[in-house]
Amino acid sequence: MPARKIIIDTDPGQDDAVAILLALASPEDVEVLGLTCVAGNVPLPLTTRNARIVCELAGRPDIAVYAGCDRPMGRDLVTAEHVHGKTGLDGPTLPDPTMPMAKGHAVDFIIDQLRTFAPGTVTLCTLGPLTNIATALRKAPDIAARIAKIVLMGGGYFEGGNITPSAEFNIYVDPQAADIVFRCGAPIVVMPLDVTHKALVTQARNDAFRGLGTPAGIAVAQMTDFFERFDKEKYGSTGAPLHDPCVTAYLIQPDLFTGRHINVEIETSSELTMGMTVADWWSVTGRPPNATFMGGIDADGFFDLLTERLARL
Ligand code: RIB
Ligand code: CA
Repeated sequence: MPARKIIIDTDPGQDDAVAILLALASPEDVEVLGLTCVAGNVPLPLTTRNARIVCELAGRPDIAVYAGCDRPMGRDLVTAEHVHGKTGLDGPTLPDPTMPMAKGHAVDFIIDQLRTFAPGTVTLCTLGPLTNIATALRKAPDIAARIAKIVLMGGGYFEGGNITPSAEFNIYVDPQAADIVFRCGAPIVVMPLDVTHKALVTQARNDAFRGLGTPAGIAVAQMTDFFERFDKEKYGSTGAPLHDPCVTAYLIQPDLFTGRHINVEIETSSELTMGMTVADWWSVTGRPPNATFMGGIDADGFFDLLTERLARL
């Protein structure tokens, strides 16, 4: 089976970084066509910087990194330095990137790749707010039918929200974009907090990363050491939730996850529940299913895969 062609849309973020490293360590499973950066955890200049830092950490300065949208479609940007630190990649001390940015806008790259490759060839892996994807869909509606799959980290149902009581950060930052994506008709797989809050970097798992003794392994251990503060304080978690790497792991080993094909709609009008993923887990609405919404994960299997692949870098 040839490697799946993917575009990673991202707002690095320590967990984005781990997701990108996992993808770059798995060439037999995924061919990374490029990274498209979006404003989210930190402003765009930092997400583009961080994306290149991660590519160089993986020994892949050849990866095309594009700058995308620097603000949501219809709201002010909300960032998450309180979780990810001032740089968005606090924890390890990593060198400034030397690789250049790719020329052109991320949205045009997404459109171009989807029009270049045969329909059903390119998978979009989104790790941040959905602004770039929704802007591409608005600019080129024909691409919706050409998308193989959108595998996205975002939302929550049983877990509620992590930025408001009802909304998860990626969806909350740009609910209008999320609404466009969930209505676009492409096959969607959702990795919500219901799953990612079960993928916790316990001390033993962090020790396994550090025990690799490689620059990538040590950097991931330092990133998750930093990144866990927010969730430990708020939820009493036993470690950092690896939200975004669940997206990459799904592409490599989908049977690590379980979920349901259900209807998911996005709250875009009430400020009280803005950005909520209204997941019809019990199929009570009669609305047509539009997404596979994950609920379970084999966490040990996930960390075994992640650690084994990081060891390759
Ligand atoms: O809510 C978690 C998500 O928001 C993750 O993608 C994290 O990187 C932030 O973007
Ligand atoms: Ca992210």
